[in-house]
Amino acid sequence: MKKDLIKKYNSKVKLYNYYNKKYFNENYSEIDDSEYDNLKKEIIDLENKHNFLKDKNSPLNKVGFKPSKNFTKVNHKVPMLSLANAFSEQDLLNFEKKITNFLSLKKNFKIYYSVEPKIDGISASLTYKNGIFYKGLSRGDGKEGEDITENLATIKDIPKKILSKNFPEEIDIRGEVFIQNSDFNDLNEKFANPRNAASGSLRQKNPEETKKIPLKFIAYAFGYERGLAVSNQSDFLKNLSEWGFKTNLQNKLISGVKNLIKNYNEIEKQRANLDFDIDGIVYKVNDFSMQSRLGSVANAPRWAIAHKFSSNKGVSQILDIEIQVGRTGALTPVAKIKSINIGGVVVSNATLHNEDEINRKDIRVGDTAVIERAGDVIPHILSVDIKKRLKNSKKFIFPENCPSCGSKTIKEFNKITKKIDAVRRCSSEGYYCDKISIEKLKHFVSKEAFNIDGFGKKIVENFWKLKFIKFPHDIFKLDYTKIEKLEGWGKLSVENLKYSINQKKNISLHRLIYSLGIRHIGLENAKLLSKHFMSFSKFKNLFKQSDFEEMLNIDGIGETQVNSIKSFFSNEANIKVLNELEKVLVVKNAIQNSDDGLLKNKTFLVTGKLNGISRAEIKSLIEENSGKTVSSISKKLNYLIIGDKPTKKKIDNAKQLKINVIDQAEFLKMLNKTS
Ligand code: IVH
Repeated sequence: MKKDLIKKYNSKVKLYNYYNKKYFNENYSEIDDSEYDNLKKEIIDLENKHNFLKDKNSPLNKVGFKPSKNFTKVNHKVPMLSLANAFSEQDLLNFEKKITNFLSLKKNFKIYYSVEPKIDGISASLTYKNGIFYKGLSRGDGKEGEDITENLATIKDIPKKILSKNFPEEIDIRGEVFIQNSDFNDLNEKFANPRNAASGSLRQKNPEETKKIPLKFIAYAFGYERGLAVSNQSDFLKNLSEWGFKTNLQNKLISGVKNLIKNYNEIEKQRANLDFDIDGIVYKVNDFSMQSRLGSVANAPRWAIAHKFSSNKGVSQILDIEIQVGRTGALTPVAKIKSINIGGVVVSNATLHNEDEINRKDIRVGDTAVIERAGDVIPHILSVDIKKRLKNSKKFIFPENCPSCGSKTIKEFNKITKKIDAVRRCSSEGYYCDKISIEKLKHFVSKEAFNIDGFGKKIVENFWKLKFIKFPHDIFKLDYTKIEKLEGWGKLSVENLKYSINQKKNISLHRLIYSLGIRHIGLENAKLLSKHFMSFSKFKNLFKQSDFEEMLNIDGIGETQVNSIKSFFSNEANIKVLNELEKVLVVKNAIQNSDDGLLKNKTFLVTGKLNGISRAEIKSLIEENSGKTVSSISKKLNYLIIGDKPTKKKIDNAKQLKINVIDQAEFLKMLNKTS
């Protein structure tokens, strides 16, 4: 019996090996993908069932799995979030204060943080089922990643089989794939930096290519899990290394912002001697139950933050200062510099941020400047060397009129910060300024907006020049016969363009809202608005409405966003665009996700102080369970939750309107919770 099994197993491994060799050495495949996948699965299943079956050529040991032609997209069972950044001690104090408030903690409560160096690599999520490495995904957009299992399997640091008793039945182990600096320097391939090398090699279609680059993996988090028995991050990290994962040697458990800063300074000093790039330190609230109470905002958790290091620097000369006009009218000065290589990347432009920055640093054309490049952000000018200043240099005068349309430029007063904005803007409205309009169109067709295949920035500029497009709706009314006559276009390419444009006439409400390019309304806010308004017509009807403040009830939407939406709707050109778009598009209504929570269709208002749970936390709790919070008593309100020292008037009003008045315990009961 055992003998038969071994024979069967060996013959399958032999076959598997044969197909691999054919594929990798001769670039030829005798079987199709699904047959190959089945064979692989049969071998893995046999190994899982019978511990005595092992072969060095098993798919679990062997790294040269046959790649799929295209990486398939797979949903992360639990999204891969990103982190908010902190740059100063003050940012950390604010971070801690927010947590203390959110959780209603006593001021002297010591919050412990798991403190972990932030490796600058590529994150990946590894799913293990019954101890077997089963699937590996890239981060992708955080919700959906690419299946790069075969490539990840080439990494030695990634255990393929974990036999530990306390290893969960199923778990996504998350961590960073990176390449050590010394290994990077030995590479022949031309990558700008180690991060690009790691990313490039992970995305190779052929795992044999991935294998050539010595990738490393460090684990630090988990996504979905069944059977994980730890209650805090530092214990989880200990478990990770017991299970055979590499973890960072500099991981620590620290409380108090002063101590975090001390550690930050120490690690920053060691940074240059490390054999891998770190771009900061991650602080995570150690306790998991606190983490889950804190939850997350948009796409970053409230319980973690990345404390970033300053970055790479270089010295070069400023050749010119140009003023760029952005989609929101912001005038951004950009220094054209003599090209230099900073940290492996050739830099020839550096942002000067805004007018105030130029004045404060007295930056002039011809100056010798220190340029800094940090991670993915645009390089910027840190300082200029006055001693090296040219004799005939003149102070840079910021234009008072928009370089594109000539309108007056203005600096706005920010009601919230009570300060005058540092950014100067073109004061024109709607689509009057050409530069703004072009940028709006580029945004409209961009990846997260309409995502029109083959309609990139260059085409926007080209069609604009030819007066084919001025407003977003013009895109859907293009005269294709004219395009076909243009140089570089043919029947086929025009057909393709037409096809991709027509395909995008069906659009979801949140994408449409995002595409409009309303200032302060990014993708996350667009999603919130879309869930709130549900249909395009309701959203569009905002222009008839006077009650914009109602939107303040949407968690995540604040005064800044509301003011911006108000100003958008007060502009006739925008209304016209909306009307025209309505004629050519089919806008899908928003789907209320997870609207079958326990508090479905119920609205709440809190008065008075609750016990051990803050306002912000109760608001999140209600929303997580599909309920809504409102800001005043009206017929729309279903429940008034009363805490300590409530406002008597609110209770009276509620009773008059026959609204249910409940206390904290009754509320928690609705969620099947006790306090
Ligand atoms: S935790 C919700 N821990 O930083 C938690 N991330 O901007 C999110 N990173 O995409 C991740 N070291 O690529 C975490 N010890 C660490 C990390 C780390 C590096 C990267 C990771 C992530 C990005 C967050």
